[in-house]
Amino acid sequence: MKGILMAGGSGSRLYPLTQVVNKQLQAVYDKPMVYYPLTVLMAGGIREICLIAMERDLPKFQQLLGDGRQWGIKLEYRVQPHPEGIAQAFIIAADFIGNGPVTLILGDNLFFGGDALPRALADFKGGATIFAYHVTNPECYGVVEFDAGGQAVSLEEKPARPRSQYAVPGVYLYDGQVVEIARSLKPSERNELEITDVNRAYLSRGQLQVNRLSRGFAWLDAGSSSSLFEAAAFVQTIEKRQGIKLGCPEEAALRRGFLSLEAFEKLAASMPSCEYRHYLEGIGKEAARQHLPLPS
Ligand code: DAU
Repeated sequence: MKGILMAGGSGSRLYPLTQVVNKQLQAVYDKPMVYYPLTVLMAGGIREICLIAMERDLPKFQQLLGDGRQWGIKLEYRVQPHPEGIAQAFIIAADFIGNGPVTLILGDNLFFGGDALPRALADFKGGATIFAYHVTNPECYGVVEFDAGGQAVSLEEKPARPRSQYAVPGVYLYDGQVVEIARSLKPSERNELEITDVNRAYLSRGQLQVNRLSRGFAWLDAGSSSSLFEAAAFVQTIEKRQGIKLGCPEEAALRRGFLSLEAFEKLAASMPSCEYRHYLEGIGKEAARQHLPLPS
């Protein structure tokens, strides 16, 4: 399984924050936003990842994340010239995807709790797997409707009158058909290639699996000023209470065995003295005492 991280978009809802700095490079409490979705992919065992962003922002992502070698992964980059929709990712990165399966994650989505995502990745056999999450404001998202038997029956993008309270979070697993499906899409009324239309194509082929995320799972997006603030507060609350960090690629790399303990310790030692480094040093000490895994 390969991964695509969508970090383009104009970030207009966060203006003027995004006038100079891309949304996904903004801070969510103690880390750049992009660390969180990147870590989700890595924790799911994905080591080949393509990040897509606007041309002006790519050098900054490259400066921050490099080629991924420091975390035992391979990072590639592609340009999205204009924000013409999330589904355009599959056309832009068609050569990266090839014919194999791919997970797409949105750069402004944060996930925390449980093992629903790694499990879905491990269980993935083909078709598409997406998720459903109960929210108060489904009209702001892709919305999935279920029949009495719990089967998904319809999908709509930001409907004025949602047919359910279940929003579709920004992480999607697809098989090799996705490139051909994306190429066949027509732009929507807002002139974007919609990810919801990709999911609809799988639904009409009878190949869409929708996993409902349970109560203990947290999904936040950080696309508006309030949700960015709330996401930061959420991260701070969990990190302070539990003494763990969310969205820490170094830790995911160690737990997944992408990095040896020695390489991990060397990486931590190369950082300036700060809370982040001290956290990693603590993880390294625990790993050395064979106490891994901590709660992931
Ligand atoms: O957050 C989940 C929702 O994300 C889904 O429920 C919706 O079905 C899906 O359409 C999307 O809705 P948004 O309108 O919130 O997406 P937004 O335009 O905010 O973009 C989400 C991320 O994707 C953001 O990190 C920027 C990136 N993006 C977006 C577009 C349109 C790109 O990289 N390129 C693009 O062209």
